[in-house]
Amino acid sequence: MCGIVAYIGPKDATPFLLEGLARLEYRGYDSAGVAVTGRSGGIKLRKVKGRVADLAAAVPARFKGTTGIGHTRWATHGVPSDANAHPHLDNAERIAVVHNGIIENADELRAKLTADGAVFRSETDTEVLAHLIAAHVAEGVELEDAVRAALGRVVGTYGIAVLDAEQPDRIVVARNGSPIVLGIGEKEMFAASDVSALVRYTRQVVHLEDGELATVRADGFRTFTEDARTTHRQPSTVDWEVDSYDTGGYEHFLLKEIHEQPGSVERTLSGRLDERFATAHLGGLNLDARELREIRRVKILGCGSAYYAGEMGAQLIEELARIPAHSEPASEFRYRNPVIEADTLYVAVSQSGETYDTLAAVQEIKRKGGRVLGVVNTVGSAIARECDGGIYLHAGPEVSVASTKAFTSTVVAFALLALHFGRIHDLSPADGRRIVSALQALPDQIREVLEQSESIAELAAEYAESAGMMFIGRVRGFPVAREGAQKLKEISYVHAEAYPASELKHGPLALISPELPTLALVPDDELLDKNLTTLGEIKARSGRVIAVGHRRPEEKLADHFILVPKSEPELDPLLLNIPLQLLAYHAAVALGRDVDKPRNLAKSVTVE
Ligand code: F6R
Repeated sequence: MCGIVAYIGPKDATPFLLEGLARLEYRGYDSAGVAVTGRSGGIKLRKVKGRVADLAAAVPARFKGTTGIGHTRWATHGVPSDANAHPHLDNAERIAVVHNGIIENADELRAKLTADGAVFRSETDTEVLAHLIAAHVAEGVELEDAVRAALGRVVGTYGIAVLDAEQPDRIVVARNGSPIVLGIGEKEMFAASDVSALVRYTRQVVHLEDGELATVRADGFRTFTEDARTTHRQPSTVDWEVDSYDTGGYEHFLLKEIHEQPGSVERTLSGRLDERFATAHLGGLNLDARELREIRRVKILGCGSAYYAGEMGAQLIEELARIPAHSEPASEFRYRNPVIEADTLYVAVSQSGETYDTLAAVQEIKRKGGRVLGVVNTVGSAIARECDGGIYLHAGPEVSVASTKAFTSTVVAFALLALHFGRIHDLSPADGRRIVSALQALPDQIREVLEQSESIAELAAEYAESAGMMFIGRVRGFPVAREGAQKLKEISYVHAEAYPASELKHGPLALISPELPTLALVPDDELLDKNLTTLGEIKARSGRVIAVGHRRPEEKLADHFILVPKSEPELDPLLLNIPLQLLAYHAAVALGRDVDKPRNLAKSVTVE
């Protein structure tokens, strides 16, 4: 997904811009560019199709300026090319613009601008902004007013940063549906689409709201609305560590993040377990016990892995609190004119807190008067701000495109919510204690699974060349199967399908053959016998089976077995998922894939 960086201050902007863009690489992109200006006037521009390293190589030593903007592009309008890469300039080469998001009326604006004499040099929607802003500044309008006027004609979503060669003492940024965060330095200021580009330089940040703009100067900033009303924003402090953005000796961010899970789970739990009352404390819910008792249903919304984590969450809430709970893709929910009920608690799940579909679902619920909690990793993100309350994951920044530690922490957060809910309803103190102890044991149990990384790597190498893989699980195991299949397909590109084990005989059994291996989740719970019967059905069709569970099945039922430490049945899915992350990771490595940046995918999907 596209990334934005900007700098204004006494130093040369280019090193920060290039380093900042490198920090945003994990979001996925196909081209990159920078533009700088300074007191000497004029705009220096370099942009290339390819990597940030290619851009750095193309930037000459004399490419200097104290005010600059940079961009990594993920093609939407027009193919990846040097010409379509951002920044985009107007014809007088006075204005430079970088843009994340989509301008829906770009064709119409382009036609009008062309009729007025503008010559377009790219196929992008963004270029219309450069021409629109230029038309206003050419009439002597201040840059911020020119940007406001241009945005007033635009339909769509944007995060933008704008440079004016004739007003090099400022950069103007704006946000509408695509994040922009300001970074406050010592007599210098930064801006970016993601704090990861800033943390090396400053921890003091300001997140812009949708519909907000800012004029950023070396010595400060001013925020205002699209109708020019000044807004007052207090900076917040980012507590994420700089080394979160380094691979820290691991071959990939993904492997590092898988191995960080004992620590990230500890942080999600930290200060939230109450042994005395065998419950959980969740300070950010903003709902007291009486209000929680009035809730009759829980609806969880998220996209991709966040949706699957929500499925595990729904299962936990139903089991522990006996409240009907259901997870649905936010991307579907928002388009089906959903019925919003007063006694339903809506929960939006998002690692980034910026996924556009999830944000739109939250806005739809709120517009109709519903109550929404957020289960979010990124503090201060759009979804976190939009919700009425929620639970922060504290998993730390997740850099690799595929979600692992945030997924696990989301399920832990749901376990806390389910425990809290359960203890307000009919979950007994003894059952509450059982869950509290099991949650406390999780970090060490995750460590035990991670110790098997090497043997799982051997297994992955053996199966990586398979044409596909079937993932099956029953009830609690089914969301695990879905997330396991998702992880394998997104990073190794091996086709993977998830089915409830109970459904196999209603269709997909026809696919079973020696060529299609099955990964089966067989926890030692009340459904173990049923699961073993399913394994027998697969083996009878010469299917190969990798079983993941707590007790090795008979040799005739499984070709391989991955042992996972036993938790309480409700929490078993969390641990059963960890070896599936390792399996996907090692399969992707065996196939030589770009593990941290899988093709066609982006870390946070801030467009529709
Ligand atoms: C899968 C993955 C995606 C995200 C989805 C939602 O590994 O990372 O499916 O889970 O795009 O992203 P967030 O959680 O940022 O809303």
